[in-house]
Amino acid sequence: MGKPSLGLSISLVCFVVLMLASDSVAHRQKMRMDRRPQVGECQLDRLESLKPVYRIESEGGVTESWNHSDKILRCAGVTLVRRTVQPKGLVLPSYTNAPQLLYYVRGKGIQGMTIFPSCPESFEEPEGSGGGYREKHQKVHEIGEGDIIAIPAGIGYWFYNNGNTPLVVVILMDTSNADNQLDGKPRRFYLAGNPEDEHGEETDGESGRNLFSRIHEQLLSEIYGVSVETVRKMKGADDTRKNIVLAKEGLAVVRPEPGPRVNGLEETICTLRVREHVGSAARADIYTPHAGRIATLNSIKLPILADLRLSAERGVLYENGVYVPHWNLNANTILYVTGGEGRIQVVDNEGRSVFDGEIEEGEVLVIPQNFVVVIQATGEGGFEWIAFKTAENAMISPLVGISSAIRALPVHVVANIFRVSIEEAQRLKIGRDQTSLFSIASQSSKTKAFV
Ligand SMILES: *[C@@H]1O[C@H](CO)[C@@H](O)[C@H](O)[C@H]1NC(C)=O
Repeated sequence: MGKPSLGLSISLVCFVVLMLASDSVAHRQKMRMDRRPQVGECQLDRLESLKPVYRIESEGGVTESWNHSDKILRCAGVTLVRRTVQPKGLVLPSYTNAPQLLYYVRGKGIQGMTIFPSCPESFEEPEGSGGGYREKHQKVHEIGEGDIIAIPAGIGYWFYNNGNTPLVVVILMDTSNADNQLDGKPRRFYLAGNPEDEHGEETDGESGRNLFSRIHEQLLSEIYGVSVETVRKMKGADDTRKNIVLAKEGLAVVRPEPGPRVNGLEETICTLRVREHVGSAARADIYTPHAGRIATLNSIKLPILADLRLSAERGVLYENGVYVPHWNLNANTILYVTGGEGRIQVVDNEGRSVFDGEIEEGEVLVIPQNFVVVIQATGEGGFEWIAFKTAENAMISPLVGISSAIRALPVHVVANIFRVSIEEAQRLKIGRDQTSLFSIASQSSKTKAFV
């Protein structure tokens, strides 16, 4: 009696151990799938600044996209889209197979999500305002220059320009994220209209390219309880407005009332915040007079980023400002220039310069993990960017200043590795007292360029 039960319990233990082991293997497998390119996929001996290669003109604005097959974007496992939306322009609701970070570069508007599973429709009209029908929908955010919005995979969103100037947004799609269980190709699913594929996919010539377009007409008519004529409009056939349409009469949506009656819901998806402002000087984490400012956004400030495994950095250099040489510990950086003139130098693990040049507004530079980067404002108007980073809490290690890697070394180590005197080693360690930002003008006017 004792023996079989011992055997049973041993095999049970084995079974449990096996289960646990296979569980952790599956977990590690998932971790590995999460943004890990194959060996040889990252050819990083020469980086280039990238411009969009696809362009779609629509009734309400323009959509431009970067080449997701570009080798450096494939290595980083991301791609980008930029939309320029005219006043009263409405970007058709869509979702993608990848988490997204949106940065509003210019203009103002409102943005809403289609649905977050099991969220109530939190915005509703006061009772008795609309006859028999009472409008309810998911919450709507006011958005404007300097705002970041985080969108998980498969969550739809739309946005609308309610200002008088173009609304410009740059969108990072993290196709190598574990939340994308398809391949690395960006796929955008539109809920309406007759949009073109913004990632360069040839269209089949048929009109109607939204979720409803190929579902049988009669079936849709019965499911929704609407006429076949309405269903045809849903399918988007003959709609020539493309990806961004004009709401010619403007757009009336239920919004939280301003003032003391705001209930706090406007900032959340159910309980999750998705928006954060990083644009203004008041929001800076690092500020050095005459040099510039840096605002970081990570999962500590915006917890949804822990799920998306993304973070961001808003950088502004003033005239003569320098972002000192540093490396990113745990993330690739996808830097989008939002204005000004600047020069960037990037150095790889063999000490080679893989990028050294000017980069213009609207261009993208991918700075690979651990590569050393230095950024210098070259124009009178300074230089500014938004950097998307492929880790929820991206960290940098500067090579100069109070938290520099050099300062962390004992002075005798510094003297020996550089073959300098102890005095010179001390100067290297503590000669500069600033954080990561530095102004050449305020220190010395002789050495303006860093090469
Ligand atoms: C995108 O990049 C791939 C790989 O480098 C290249 O073959 C292709 O021609 C590019 N497409 C466009 C539209 O530039």
